[in-house]
Amino acid sequence: MARIGVIGAGYVGLTTAACFAHLGHRVVCADVDEGKVTALRRAEIGAHEPRLAELVAEGLRTGRLAFTTDNGEALADAEFVYLCLPTPTGENGEADLSAVHAVLGDAEPDGCVLVVKSTVPIGTSDDIARSQRVPVVSNPEFLREGHAVDDFLRPQRIVVGADDESAARSVLALYPEAPALVTDRASAELVKYASNCFLAMKLSYVNSLAELCEQAGADIGDVTEGMRLDERIGAAFLRPGPGWGGSCFPKDTRALLSTSDGAHVDFPLLRATIDTNERQARRVVEKVREAAGPLAGTRIGLLGLTFKAGTDDLRDSPALAVAGLLADEGAVLTGYDPCVTADTGPVHVAETALDAAHDASALVVLTEWPEFAELDWPAVAAGMSRPVIVDTRNLLPADKVTESGIRLVSTGRAAD
Ligand code: UDX
Repeated sequence: MARIGVIGAGYVGLTTAACFAHLGHRVVCADVDEGKVTALRRAEIGAHEPRLAELVAEGLRTGRLAFTTDNGEALADAEFVYLCLPTPTGENGEADLSAVHAVLGDAEPDGCVLVVKSTVPIGTSDDIARSQRVPVVSNPEFLREGHAVDDFLRPQRIVVGADDESAARSVLALYPEAPALVTDRASAELVKYASNCFLAMKLSYVNSLAELCEQAGADIGDVTEGMRLDERIGAAFLRPGPGWGGSCFPKDTRALLSTSDGAHVDFPLLRATIDTNERQARRVVEKVREAAGPLAGTRIGLLGLTFKAGTDDLRDSPALAVAGLLADEGAVLTGYDPCVTADTGPVHVAETALDAAHDASALVVLTEWPEFAELDWPAVAAGMSRPVIVDTRNLLPADKVTESGIRLVSTGRAAD
């Protein structure tokens, strides 16, 4: 079992720390945020991430997991130091590496393998390696929010980039058995961007297909079902929606485009992927306007505010992009989300879905929380001032909804 230091206790760092402790390693996890560290010492993780709080509590109980605000404590004695720092979008779309540079400027890892888990532009780990005396390994994460623990403990792949075979093997040995790929550092960094951008591209493609279906009288559900049967295409990431969001796809697509621009490589496919997504919120607003009439002063209900179901994360949420545009046109917004209790931007947050529907001239389904498919449709219809639902995710049971006298505007299907 290894001694591991983790720098950064965001969802990636915390998941890494808690899961490594669960696997039997000794982990010290550092974060600059004192309040967060104090809460983590009580196993309060402050986020909706299944099983994570349980594993943090287990690590604290067994003594295999400790939290500190002092990076030095995470580095001292560690055989592996994991950098799990945020790399937000910088001014020109590139990833902002200031957190990574600040940590490495203050501390000098010694006698360990330095592992870069943060999503960093191609070449960053090589740059870091030039400034360090220890072996540097790139080991990107592929953790989905809401499934982070499961993805860590049962990985579909582990990618390790290194120029030192024994350092690469020692990092691989920390993980459970999984398909593994050892590459150079730049390729490992690119695997991460390439994967997320490919998935984003798939979604933008499907969202444009859905628009075409609406005009051409086809059904996106049938079209994607037909595509799924081709193993070369694959079954996942073919559900249309209000656009993709979250903490990774928007940031990573912009960062890869910025890297391509910097390398003088024209990547029109990636640019179109991003542009298509940025249009999605406007498309949803057009549908709402068509359903509800003029928006100024009109009450609109929103079902779902988080960027996807199964998380409380509102970062780059397409639902909030739609809400912002509706509010710009003067709509009065009441939303409901199982994971959001406080008013958010222009959205007053109600306690139930029925409250969000109350008096609304249209109800818009924005996040695919399964419970939205189970509402009491006659009660929803009775409460609305105009019973119309715009279902951006095709989540609702069309028969039951329309039988209740509600007009349902689906996505990627010709309008009734
Ligand atoms: C993603 C990657 O999946 C993960 O491997 C990476 O490490 C981090 O980024 P996450 O941001 O948690 O994970 O979200 P994900 O589940 O991939 O969904 C991304 C977006 O695509 C969401 O807005 C989601 O609603 C949307 N989506 C996904 C669709 O609109 N339709 C689909 O069929 C699938």
